[in-house]
Amino acid sequence: MVQGAVASVRAEDVEVLIREFAAMTEPGPGVTRLAYSRLEREAHAVFARYMRELGLIVWTDAAGNTIAELAGQDESLPAIGTGSHLDSVPEGGSFDGVAGVVAALEVARLFVHGDVRNVHPMRFVVFAAEEGARFGQACTGSRIVAGLTTSSDVGTLVDNDGVVLADAMADVGIDPRRVEDAVWRRDDWAAFVELHIEQGSVLTEVGARVGIVDVISGSTRLRIDVTGRASHTGGTPMHRRADALAAAAQVILTAEEIANDAEHRGTRITVGRIEVGPGSITTIPGSAHLFVDVRDIDSDRQREAASQLIAAAYGVGEERGVGIQVEMLADASPAVLPLWVRSSIARSASGLGVDYRVMPSGASHDSQMVNHVCPAGMIFVPSQNHGISHAPEEFSRFDDLALGVDVLAASLLDLDARMQAESQ
Ligand code: GLV
Ligand code: MN
Ligand code: MN
Repeated sequence: MVQGAVASVRAEDVEVLIREFAAMTEPGPGVTRLAYSRLEREAHAVFARYMRELGLIVWTDAAGNTIAELAGQDESLPAIGTGSHLDSVPEGGSFDGVAGVVAALEVARLFVHGDVRNVHPMRFVVFAAEEGARFGQACTGSRIVAGLTTSSDVGTLVDNDGVVLADAMADVGIDPRRVEDAVWRRDDWAAFVELHIEQGSVLTEVGARVGIVDVISGSTRLRIDVTGRASHTGGTPMHRRADALAAAAQVILTAEEIANDAEHRGTRITVGRIEVGPGSITTIPGSAHLFVDVRDIDSDRQREAASQLIAAAYGVGEERGVGIQVEMLADASPAVLPLWVRSSIARSASGLGVDYRVMPSGASHDSQMVNHVCPAGMIFVPSQNHGISHAPEEFSRFDDLALGVDVLAASLLDLDARMQAESQ
């Protein structure tokens, strides 16, 4: 039972909503609902419909984020928010982002049906385009509200099919020239708490039902272009080659070495995509393009690892006689989340008798960007299947999710009461 609300969230209700969103996918394994796609917009519309049915005021902002507001007793106070995202990676799971959106829906239901008297306005947010899978940059909707991505930036990011982010936005009815209209004012927001699946296996390993995030990893994303010399695979002797793919392979293995080096304990480097040209079994690769993600909870280590990799790539270029060009696709710093929001969540979990673990997040999250505007916190719910995520096997138990939503609701009410006391 959540303090001040009439009931706890039911696992069955969570499951119905998770499955409803999971059905909104491109054909194929898992869930594919890419950033600024028609399906993402349809999923936002489902969220908006549920919120309107509850009597909330709902709007879509200039970045395509959907926001629902439940009035507070004192409308002069800034809002307390919760929410997450509804876009997915290609062939992803049913829970990443959706868990936090379903949590927002369930909290809104609890507050409306439980006749909870929140003093601050409560806002329930679905951010657009959280996944960097399509355009390289993560958290586009929340970066826009934080003023970190602007109308000029959206003209520079391109997806795998050559579609510019600005055009993708325009295709789904968002005017890319006006995204600044979505920027949040600091005095309009008091705090924000996001619920998300863990996407790792710490919680199941230690047997905690909830995680409280203290720091969210940063991420530096690079494109490394390797230019070699395409030529006949039979006619060209080994010593006369400039094989772009062989050089790229050396760069990939060096990336792994850098991340595994003791001085980089905690750095994670991944080359998740590679394009090879001309892509023929009988032609030596003339070009290879690597897409690299460097993550760390330590911002110095993150940037140092990226710099080391860039230097190593140029070294491989010299050694093998291939051209190397590096472009930075995106760069987000780690975020340390404020202690007092964390304490609110911890107090709420303890009040409900829920064991929690304070832990870092390896993944990026919208809260990382929201934290630039107002203090943000994050609640993790255990991921099953050894924490697999961004894959169809992603799974969290519905009773764990329901419990996480109870903690979220209690945390929002705790913040509501605490900040009201402080404002008097
Ligand atoms: C978001 O899912 C990320 O890639 O961390
Ligand atoms: Mn996510
Ligand atoms: Mn994700």
